Amino acid sequence: MKLFDVYPLFDINIVKGRGCTVWDDNGQEYLDLYGGHAVISIGHCHPHYIEMVGRQLDMLGFYSNSVINRLQAELAERLGRACGYDDYQLFLINSGAEANENALKLASFTNGRTRVLSAEKAFHGRTSLAVEVTNNPKIIAPINDCGHTTYLPLNDLAAWEAELAKGDVCACIIECIQGVGGIRLATPEFAQGLAEACKRHGAVLICDEIQCGYGRSGRFFAHQWLGIRPDLITVAKGIGNGFPMGAVLISPEFKPVYGQLGTTFGGNHLACTAALAVLDVMEEERLVDNARETGSYLMGQLKALQASCSHITDVRGRGLMVGIELDMPYKDVRNRLVYEEHVFTGCSGTNTLRLLPPLCFTKAMADEFVARLKKCLDAQ
Ligand SMILES: Cc1ncc(COP(=O)(O)O)c(C=O)c1O
Repeated sequence: MKLFDVYPLFDINIVKGRGCTVWDDNGQEYLDLYGGHAVISIGHCHPHYIEMVGRQLDMLGFYSNSVINRLQAELAERLGRACGYDDYQLFLINSGAEANENALKLASFTNGRTRVLSAEKAFHGRTSLAVEVTNNPKIIAPINDCGHTTYLPLNDLAAWEAELAKGDVCACIIECIQGVGGIRLATPEFAQGLAEACKRHGAVLICDEIQCGYGRSGRFFAHQWLGIRPDLITVAKGIGNGFPMGAVLISPEFKPVYGQLGTTFGGNHLACTAALAVLDVMEEERLVDNARETGSYLMGQLKALQASCSHITDVRGRGLMVGIELDMPYKDVRNRLVYEEHVFTGCSGTNTLRLLPPLCFTKAMADEFVARLKKCLDAQ
């Protein structure tokens, strides 16, 4: 059997990782500013993570959601404390798309409505509802195109308020820092106005923190920079540091109903243990603070490079979620970074390099990256 060929691949086989470094099967070392697409939060193969997941695997890998799993309750308690949402409830699943899928279902179960407002350039995943609220017609199959969604410009509060005033909106879903959309930041005025308008018109506010959350922005959640408390918060990626996991944080106003939501694998013993190990390391190594401090240092160095390099037209982001917009397609620069300078980065659109390193990234690594990027841009 052949693989179903849906991914354009770098011709590189990564076989080992430690911290912010990965190695290929020839022993070549790479600096990782991609983190496997924002998934690696505490760094590759952290010893505490290996120890805890290994020990749990030895004890019990999986049972089912029909029996008590104390690890889930422990995770809910620890996560609530770490992110400042002790009074919220936690529903555990396996991926980001599933988190958004369940958040949208819960919103619709609660207010009985079906219309969703989403942002232009939004990305929320590839399952039925998640892809329907994603602003990319190329990945919405006809079967997903059910007409539930109106896309509006991020930060155009008047446009969102006008739609909400029609009284039929089930939910508004936003990324407070758009990832796939090119590191676009929601403003506090927009976020606060939207939260207030959602309350006024009976709509549910969902913040998709799958890429920008879990410490990446320099606060636990990116929306915490904006002074709002969403009704539902979706997370995935960094929560398990590579162990597939997603979650919905649910405000106390939502009352659970037996059987309404469910999953076979979600919240299994191994996933919860991975998530607990992640929280241990985030706290022990103060990784949210590190994301804020190192991220602002990295942005400063990139802005300094921009001042002397006409190829960089913009540097934007927050914490360790940074976009570098170029005056040309990113493709050649990104390839040069990988194959000549041995640095992994992400990308968005056609011209933006997207940086999503593990949250243990250091200032020395930031300097190293900026020097290697400069070499690539000078060669263009
Ligand atoms: C903001 C955002 N939401 C949702 C998703 C979907 O997550 P998953 O691929 O785990 O389904 C992604 C993935 O890149 C994302 O960046």
